[in-house]
Amino acid sequence: MSVDASRPMPVLQASGLSKTFGIVEVLKDIDLTVLPGEVHAIIGENGAGKSTLMKILAGNHQPTRGEMRMDGEVVNFSGPVDAEHRGIVLVHQEILLAPDLTVAQNIYLGRELRRRFTVDDRAMNEGAAGAIRDLGSDIDPSTLVSRLSIAQRQLVQIARVLLVPHRIVIFDEPTASLTPHETEALLKVIRHIRARGVGVLYISHRLAEVKDIADRVTVLRDGRLVASHDASELEPADMARLMVGRDVAKLYPDRHAAAAREPVLEVEGFSVPGYAQDASFSLRKGEILGFAGLIGAGRTELMEGVVGLRPGRGSLRLNGRPVQFPDVHASLKAGIAYLSEDRKGKGLLLTKDLRINLTLASLSKFSGPLQIDARRETEALDKAIQDFDIRTGNKAILAGQLSGGNQQKLLLAKMMLLDPQVVIIDEPTRGIDIGNKQQIYKFIASLAEEGRSIIVVSSEMPELIGICDRILVMRSGRIAGEVTGEHMNENEIVALATGVNAGRGAGEAA
Ligand SMILES: Nc1ncnc2c1ncn2[C@@H]1O[C@H](COP(=O)(O)OP(=O)(O)OP(=O)(O)O)[C@@H](O)[C@H]1O
Ligand SMILES: [Mg+2]
Repeated sequence: MSVDASRPMPVLQASGLSKTFGIVEVLKDIDLTVLPGEVHAIIGENGAGKSTLMKILAGNHQPTRGEMRMDGEVVNFSGPVDAEHRGIVLVHQEILLAPDLTVAQNIYLGRELRRRFTVDDRAMNEGAAGAIRDLGSDIDPSTLVSRLSIAQRQLVQIARVLLVPHRIVIFDEPTASLTPHETEALLKVIRHIRARGVGVLYISHRLAEVKDIADRVTVLRDGRLVASHDASELEPADMARLMVGRDVAKLYPDRHAAAAREPVLEVEGFSVPGYAQDASFSLRKGEILGFAGLIGAGRTELMEGVVGLRPGRGSLRLNGRPVQFPDVHASLKAGIAYLSEDRKGKGLLLTKDLRINLTLASLSKFSGPLQIDARRETEALDKAIQDFDIRTGNKAILAGQLSGGNQQKLLLAKMMLLDPQVVIIDEPTRGIDIGNKQQIYKFIASLAEEGRSIIVVSSEMPELIGICDRILVMRSGRIAGEVTGEHMNENEIVALATGVNAGRGAGEAA
């Protein structure tokens, strides 16, 4: 790529970068520049190589081939600390914080502020509070990270990185779990650092957001750089086409309105202390029931209570019979599969291989007379890779080495091996590219066609409106109302979720 004379001298110039893991080449001959004072978005399908490329630029990986220059001078980073010294910092896609330390201790980890011979907690708390406030949040810096939501943890990671002196900041899907309000605050921060002449690399699957923030957009497909344009030249639909290699016109599948069928799961007067109060709803056979609400409305905790992941009180009936789930194994055994929003914490064993992860929850299906039947496990993995289009060049890698979106597909595959009657999915498409979203929606619709009953918890209203038969809206731990038919629109959902104009046009839930 030649450098346009009207453009400033790049801070970073990479040429011919390639990366091979084992025998698989995941990046092929990438040329990339980062200019001062620009937001350069990198987009591409799950597994296209975005995170790997960013990790090379930030010193986490060594390239197999290729060269990087800063201010014209060749650089070789021995590790991320080395890259940080040169002013390149990376906000990782995955949360990498120490859960048992406080927010401030995490933010200053490895570069603690000291006063005489002791760590200066007061100064660190003050510095951390300021950095967090800049991001539009009010997390208390003395809180343990284990007590924070995923969105809050992501903000802490961002605050940590922005406190390092930087010339290039790389954000790898920073907004995947943020609320619209938090996203707005972050984009403001990014505009602010851009105005200071910092170069920003920005990865996101939210293409409207990319259109909004980026000056330049580079598209990776299958490890290759396929296009690089000024953002003004591309609409989100163009970006989708360049990423996926085909038109992604229709995101949501056609569905036949499900006839009112018998209730499968009935929840009555159910409470999860501290999070959800007195929730009552029923899920019918073949139905897709959505749960909307602001982050913190108690949707995740309510579902975790229902499936026995947290203590809850109230009455549950499955196929008309009273049931109790003291733990998640009990609900699983009864035919309810729960897919957590937190795939790292609760879903996958990242340091184990794909096969173990896939079959872990349904081992009884794979046990032979004496031991686990490895051949059948391997067949199951092959089928899952095929059915769910899990993109991996090498089946022998660890779950943690799959790209973020492919981890989500592995979780879906794991769940389907259980042949569940009820499926509860929390944030089904977080971090998923637009082509794969389409596939996952089709998959959820086909589960319903098969007569399974599905609950979808999501923060993305268009997604709920696009795939659900009915949507319940939670506000402050309670079910505030239900929307169906023509009332399934963003205005009515927001009204119920926030309590402003509550009840207008939308029925209160039974
Ligand atoms: N340490 C590793 N060992 C082996 N393969 C790896 C490793 N890290 C990444 N890969 C593979 O490299 C490819 C690119 O992954 P990468 O994480 O860069 O994708 P991505 O574009 O960031 O995707 P996503 O949008 O899902 O985050 C994938 O096939 C992935 O499985
Ligand atoms: Mg990634």
